Amino acid sequence: MAKTIIVSNRLPVKISQENGKYNYMPSEGGLATGLGSIYKDGDNIWIGWPGLAVSKADHQKEITKKLKTESMKPVFLTNTEIEEFYEGFSNETLWPNFHYFNQYIVFDDDMWRAYQKVNRKFARAIAEVLEPEDTIWVHDYQLLLLPEMLREFAPKASIGFFLHIPFPSYESFRLLPWRRELLEGMLGADFLGFHTYDDMRHFLSSVNRLAGLGNSNGMINVDNRKVMVDALPMGIDYDKYAESAAAKETLEREARYRESIGAQKLILSIDRLDYSKGIPQRLKAFELFLEQNPDYREKVSLLMVVVPSRDQVGKYKELKEEIDLLVGRINGNYSRLNWTPIHYFYRSFPLNALSAFYRMAEVAMVTPMRDGMNLVCKEFIASKLDKKGVLILSEMAGASKELSDAILINPNDMGELVNAIKTALTMPVKKQMANMISMQRSLQRYNIHHWVNLFMERLHHIKHEQKALETQ
Ligand code: F6P
Repeated sequence: MAKTIIVSNRLPVKISQENGKYNYMPSEGGLATGLGSIYKDGDNIWIGWPGLAVSKADHQKEITKKLKTESMKPVFLTNTEIEEFYEGFSNETLWPNFHYFNQYIVFDDDMWRAYQKVNRKFARAIAEVLEPEDTIWVHDYQLLLLPEMLREFAPKASIGFFLHIPFPSYESFRLLPWRRELLEGMLGADFLGFHTYDDMRHFLSSVNRLAGLGNSNGMINVDNRKVMVDALPMGIDYDKYAESAAAKETLEREARYRESIGAQKLILSIDRLDYSKGIPQRLKAFELFLEQNPDYREKVSLLMVVVPSRDQVGKYKELKEEIDLLVGRINGNYSRLNWTPIHYFYRSFPLNALSAFYRMAEVAMVTPMRDGMNLVCKEFIASKLDKKGVLILSEMAGASKELSDAILINPNDMGELVNAIKTALTMPVKKQMANMISMQRSLQRYNIHHWVNLFMERLHHIKHEQKALETQ
């Protein structure tokens, strides 16, 4: 029977090594929960990198055996591949280009070759388990070449691709010397999904200008094969966050945290360490807010969580130093014995702790310079069981297209950011609740399960149409 193969750079598991033993922790990421019901079913499987370098053959065997029991198949990367494919081409070339940080791009042919080589490695791993009629769902910018590689040896397979980060405008994308190959790689899919209409439009424009292919309502004709493109904004597992916000452990944590932090209002900021997230800009806006509004000092604190990420990449290391300096400066200038302006954590937290933070915060500041979607703002909303709280959201986050009841800001406009903090802190409860209820309704409906079903439906629909055409 035909099966479904999920492919992403990282497997939905965190593996760590302690005293020569491997520990396995299931990932709590949105994708892992959303696809859980698919990849654990029957012969279905998830293929990806286990997230660490494993060179010894017997260790690779041990990990492969263990993961098999969880319907996963690892693709092992060497240290050089991690450096050149993951940290390099994926995160020093594609990531800055797709997020409009073009001054950060590293153009390096060796990295490009590593990217091709690793995409090929993934293709081979898939080939080992692939049957002609299987469905393959490829995820994200690390694997843009994979759909075409798969198409070569499995012309009948249903191949879907979803991009989790923005697709840049043609003017940004054309800077990449490998733009044509990247597009052709993606066009190997039958169905391509993007978070927003704008991402999809940018992709279609590049396809038109670089590959000379037009489209009719998102349908592209590639070598007599139909490729469909659409915008499908990813949702969250709404019930999981709402339930966690009501859990006993969360409430206990909230009481403990509140006791140590005091009664002041809280503005929440949670991100992975990334320059696309606008963390220094947010800190500067908070600093300016305190400077311009002395009566708010000692009455409001910023609770800032930065989750370590890609810390071997130069720009991420620099960003970490910049954040440390800014937090030090602001706390140094404004702290009182009974009040800390910024509670800063450079670490990750378990779900119950995050839920406690979401519950405690009057305001969440989600102000990326650019973000494919952003799920933190959705998690904040789902956790607000009393419907009180205000979201300040960047127009540059994909989520802003759905969450128009948030306070929408341009993260480059410092004045607007500062005003938004004041507006949020003084918003009447009635208005807070009206906005929250409307956003909750939409997120409850367009949740992660809805997104997965819609993607699969579209993929099967286009495949069905292709088959009908072939038999005509
Ligand atoms: O936002 C894109 C993305 O790939 C997410 O899917 C993922 O959670 C995040 O970046 C972290 O990526 P990495 O694998 O580099 O830690």
